[in-house]
Amino acid sequence: MEKRYVLLLEETARFNRKLVSFQASKNEILHGWLKYREGFSPQLVDALLDEFGIGTDGHILEPFAGSSTTLLVAMMRGIDATGIELLPHCHLAWNAKSQIVQYSLEELKQIAHQAAILQLPSPRSPFPHLVITEGAFSEGTEDELMAFTEWVEESSISAEARILCRLVLTSILESVSYTRKDGQYLRWDGRSSKLKKRNHRRSALGKKNVSGIDKGILPNVRDAFCGALKDVIRDIEILQKQTFAPSTQTLLEGSTLYILSTLAGEQFSGVITSPPYANRYDYTRTYALELAYMGVKDRIFDLRQSLLSCTVENRSKIEELRNHYKSIDCSERFDAIMQVIQSNAALAEVNQALLIRQTRGEMNNRGVLTMVQNYFTELAFVFAEILRVCRSGAHIAFVNDNVRYGGEIIPVDLLCTNLAEQLGFEPVAVYVLPQRKGNSSQQMGKFGRAALRKSITIWRKP
Ligand SMILES: C[S@@+](CC[C@H](N)C(=O)[O-])C[C@H]1O[C@@H](n2cnc3c(N)ncnc32)[C@H](O)[C@@H]1O
Repeated sequence: MEKRYVLLLEETARFNRKLVSFQASKNEILHGWLKYREGFSPQLVDALLDEFGIGTDGHILEPFAGSSTTLLVAMMRGIDATGIELLPHCHLAWNAKSQIVQYSLEELKQIAHQAAILQLPSPRSPFPHLVITEGAFSEGTEDELMAFTEWVEESSISAEARILCRLVLTSILESVSYTRKDGQYLRWDGRSSKLKKRNHRRSALGKKNVSGIDKGILPNVRDAFCGALKDVIRDIEILQKQTFAPSTQTLLEGSTLYILSTLAGEQFSGVITSPPYANRYDYTRTYALELAYMGVKDRIFDLRQSLLSCTVENRSKIEELRNHYKSIDCSERFDAIMQVIQSNAALAEVNQALLIRQTRGEMNNRGVLTMVQNYFTELAFVFAEILRVCRSGAHIAFVNDNVRYGGEIIPVDLLCTNLAEQLGFEPVAVYVLPQRKGNSSQQMGKFGRAALRKSITIWRKP
């Protein structure tokens, strides 16, 4: 495949690591309201819209919308856009960000003033913890957080201001907690009751204590809330002075795997997206605090299983997909997509190579093999549906990372391009970022260093 697509691979400084990560969005107006480490930058979306020549008569699709970077850029450029996203805190962020013109600055400033001085009674309800978030806050912080939450829910403020305050409270959860997001997991401060209890158990077994991180002095909820609200008000003030061409953006809630197949065909003029990477990072763990706060306790396992398979915990969705296509009377489409997946030689080769490494005992987790199979199977369904819902001439951009398991490098960019080509797309380019990604220390120690490509694959619907 490297040989087959060599002419498509183009290392370019136009798209650097900063552009394809959230780094550039952190302090960006509007985009920085909720820290979404997996997001790409608005500048990347701008550059791709320019490259694809998509103007105000276009309609963009973002099937893994996340913090809605693509939708927001489309809104600012007067381009219609449709996004799909599974996780509820991303919807809260979109609901708050998409109504910037509706906010009354006077009301928001009044809320900020009140929040800075009011005396709050003790909260009636506890924080709705998940098992994995227990002990994330000190007792005082948890009470203050819930007192502010009840104040926001019960004050007589406008519906849009309430949504905004909910987002602001959600956005400060990490900063006031004993946790830090760190790729695959939450890392815990040594002061948290979770680590204290764990160390107590370890001591009883004669084991060494785990030290945990030290987040230093944590802000209190009032200061964090008022600070974040001040930044948000500043952004709204700036944005309300600007005029945007009228356009419509919609964020659909649910799984792309099931929603895309029900959308009408031939409607989109471009796709700009990045799916979860095949790196075992679990969004429901990284965003456990935010999801818990939103009260998803009973749904957390369903959400985890509904995410595009990229963790070893994900089970195959094939039977579910088969039933879904049957229910929408599209079993033939399901069979045709499965036929492409099963006949893709490159995919078979990767699966075979991983199997050999597994037999040799080189894989540190048996679930990786199934995860990789499920990942590409599910993505193939997404690609097939994107082909169907796009107009002829539409350009598709997927940002993704190559990965390495048991020493085996999986060229996700070329495998996806190959699947897309087999499904009917024309491969256009694979933009490779100048800075490669390193390996996990585990992989590096055992199998040596190998730089992994981070790429943007571009395809076109003929
Ligand atoms: C790499 S992030 C996308 C970030 C986005 N481009 C941005 O700028 O914020 C991938 C997103 O896909 C979402 N996702 C994963 N599986 C999904 C599914 N089956 N349906 C819908 N969304 C899904 C995740 O929740 C996550 O927000």
